[in-house]
Amino acid sequence: MKSLKQQTILDLVAKYATPLYVYDINIIKTKYELLKQYIPKQFKIFYALKANPNPSVCAFIHSLGAGAEIASSGELCIALKSGFLGSEIIYNGPGKTDDDIAYAIENKIHLLNVESMDELYRINTIAEQAQCLMKICVRINPLCGAAQAKMHTGGDSQKFGVDEEKVDGLIEAALKLDWVTLSGIHIYVGSQILSHKVLLTSIENTLNIACKLAKQYQLKLETINLGGGLGVPYTDSEQEFNVEEFGSGLAELIAKISNCYDLSETELILEPGRFLVSDAGILLTKVLSVKESRGKKYAIVDSGINHAFLPFRMNKKYSTVIANKIDQPIDSKVIIGGALCTSMDVFTTEVELPHIEPNDIICIFNAGAYGFSASLLYFLSAPMPAEVIIDNDGQDILVRRRGRKEDFLLGTDF
Ligand SMILES: Cc1ncc(COP(=O)(O)O)c(C=O)c1O
Repeated sequence: MKSLKQQTILDLVAKYATPLYVYDINIIKTKYELLKQYIPKQFKIFYALKANPNPSVCAFIHSLGAGAEIASSGELCIALKSGFLGSEIIYNGPGKTDDDIAYAIENKIHLLNVESMDELYRINTIAEQAQCLMKICVRINPLCGAAQAKMHTGGDSQKFGVDEEKVDGLIEAALKLDWVTLSGIHIYVGSQILSHKVLLTSIENTLNIACKLAKQYQLKLETINLGGGLGVPYTDSEQEFNVEEFGSGLAELIAKISNCYDLSETELILEPGRFLVSDAGILLTKVLSVKESRGKKYAIVDSGINHAFLPFRMNKKYSTVIANKIDQPIDSKVIIGGALCTSMDVFTTEVELPHIEPNDIICIFNAGAYGFSASLLYFLSAPMPAEVIIDNDGQDILVRRRGRKEDFLLGTDF
């Protein structure tokens, strides 16, 4: 998104005010096409909605040909409203309520991931009540994870899935039930993996586990879900994820595993979130005041970790510029602090910026994934930012109006 022109950014701020999220769908398209170009044709891409569930973003990704990966009834509702058919949706997540499961079954989604024995029996019971046979995948927490992943969801002790060493019990139980059919397995070991080699090692492990279980239980593997996790560079020192090498690595792995199990009839799933949408998004926020405290300079802005938790979560010198001073020389180091009453609320540790003053517009890059969606949106009851997309023709379209003060009374008697 660094290519967005300074004048365009300032025009958007003049039109929509701050704080403002802007998503360029052309970048999402480039990322999607990059994946389609290099990964083997047999793979299907299911977009992980949690990265950015704005319905217009989701509808666009659907128009590119992706399915949806969801993890709640809310996300299922958004996916359906954005145009995904039930048959194009898979449901993961360790905490599904009976209502979530019933809603998913009612909408005839493609696959439900099972993450525990309790859940398996609940799905079977609810499927029976609906008189609808449900296809399931077992989510496995493998013995071997990906230590390099920024956020771990596999390999050690986890709330996700069933430990590899205990999966036999769950498979044996699933095979005896009447209202679920076991379609395959799912393993997702973590997010923000920048090295394609690390991800390939984890995927090879997944394929080996799938193959071993298929042999052991005479399973026909209809599906192997290899998760998401493809990373994006957040700082200048980090490298882009190498999609080309990743794609050829995947082809080699499929060929290698075919000695043990022929995968030509198996649906192979990737469920990227961050990789598709991160770089497409920026957050624009206005400087309210500038001050010094004991040798450090602070710029306080009209946004914060309530609108963008990610920069804080990544704990880095987050890529940031003053949008109205892009060509000006560096003046000093500044900490960009949000408006919340917590010392956690800083976007960046000290970053070098041109001379900074009130009304300057700070642009936070790489905000398209886990920006709006993974933030503390209710903290301090500050109205939610507006969201705008830049469409194929370069036109800006408001796709979520700015929140109102009154929104925070929603659901109360006031
Ligand atoms: C099950 C599952 N799949 C896919 C994703 C998307 O991961 P990423 O955005 O790192 O690609 C997540 C993220 O938490 C997830 O939990």
